[in-house]
Amino acid sequence: MVRVAISGTGLYTPAERISNAELVLAYNEYVRRHNAAHHDAIATGTLQPLLRSSDEFIVKASGIRSRHVVCREGMLDPEVMCPRMPERGNDELSLSAEISVAAARQALLSAHRTPSDIDGVIVAASILQRPYPQIAIEIQSALGLSGFGFDMLAGCSSATFGMRAAADMIACGHARAILCINPEICTSHLNLRDRETHFIFGDAATACVLEPAQQADGENAWEIVGTRLKSVYSNNIRNNFGPLNRFTPGTIGAPDKLITQKGRKVFKEVVPMVAEFMLEHLAELGISPDALKRLWLHQANINMNNLIARKVLGRDPRPEEAPNVLEEYGNTSSAGCIISFCKFSSDLGAGDLGHLCSFGAGYTAGSIVLRKLG
Ligand code: COA
Repeated sequence: MVRVAISGTGLYTPAERISNAELVLAYNEYVRRHNAAHHDAIATGTLQPLLRSSDEFIVKASGIRSRHVVCREGMLDPEVMCPRMPERGNDELSLSAEISVAAARQALLSAHRTPSDIDGVIVAASILQRPYPQIAIEIQSALGLSGFGFDMLAGCSSATFGMRAAADMIACGHARAILCINPEICTSHLNLRDRETHFIFGDAATACVLEPAQQADGENAWEIVGTRLKSVYSNNIRNNFGPLNRFTPGTIGAPDKLITQKGRKVFKEVVPMVAEFMLEHLAELGISPDALKRLWLHQANINMNNLIARKVLGRDPRPEEAPNVLEEYGNTSSAGCIISFCKFSSDLGAGDLGHLCSFGAGYTAGSIVLRKLG
């Protein structure tokens, strides 16, 4: 089997940003207006008043201080509470393809590759702008790539699931190199009127070039030592948005057609599942957790990440061992662990080992153990 490497990475960070203070101000104004409009029902006890959100709670519960977004317009308007952007024509590049192409171009540059070196594009994300034509094929066209492209969905583990598929294809000789791209426009399915989740998600796109390790010549190339995937059905993170919604017009736009989650349950169930999964994968590869120089974890929540890192390492991680980008980006779904990898991997030396791990809706978990090439 051919050994496979991540030979280059790219990150698109939207220029617009929203701080917790701005988000909370808009949410609390929405709450004030809602409670005022329903004053009588609240007074008679037939309706519970909505409760206010707070920056202090968000930072303590999640570690998030701000998030980048593809479109601020509308998000902070208490009457709208949703991004607002004109629809693009069929002959224009879609927003998903636009942010993907920006990340992909960086990944190609860092891998020292041109589009003619790439045989395939895999777009993997937690939600996609449309079912067809596939975003991956639109990106293929925008970059001038031949070969093939397809889209896949695997919740917050989409990046690792996509890379596993790409690595297997390259190892079997089905492609010379594949671009794996994660356009995560999480604000498209975020409910800004929901106190439990309104602060969690942000937008970003990431891209990785995968190719045989033998030919990888990017400055920050990492051999894939092993990959492992896991899924366990759970309704605790759910989004009922989909084409069958039109069969029941009365529920179109209901809150369950956006992200809903039972955060406490997710926390309690996913932390032990992921720590055990990572440790099992390391044991299977004959690698001791002590040998890991870095953990690039899914950027879900600071407390969740610290707990998983502690369980895997058997001690508290030093900040540089399990870097977080939550403060600036929030949870960017599948892009999160790749953002961490993009920003915090080039300082390590040849032969160093690191562990990339995603987890989230499904539930899904994806583990990729990496060794830096020299
Ligand atoms: N502002 C202020 N207070 C809030 C609030 C907000 N936005 N949201 C909830 N609270 C309050 C609750 O009402 C509750 O108050 P009470 O103790 O008086 O009843 C208290 O804060 C604790 O609420 P809880 O929901 O138990 O908070 P938590 O500590 O579990 O944190 C999450 C909530 C969502 C941050 C946390 O559960 C989490 O991150 N879970 C993982 C989910 C995740 O990351 N999923 C992504 C995919 S992996």
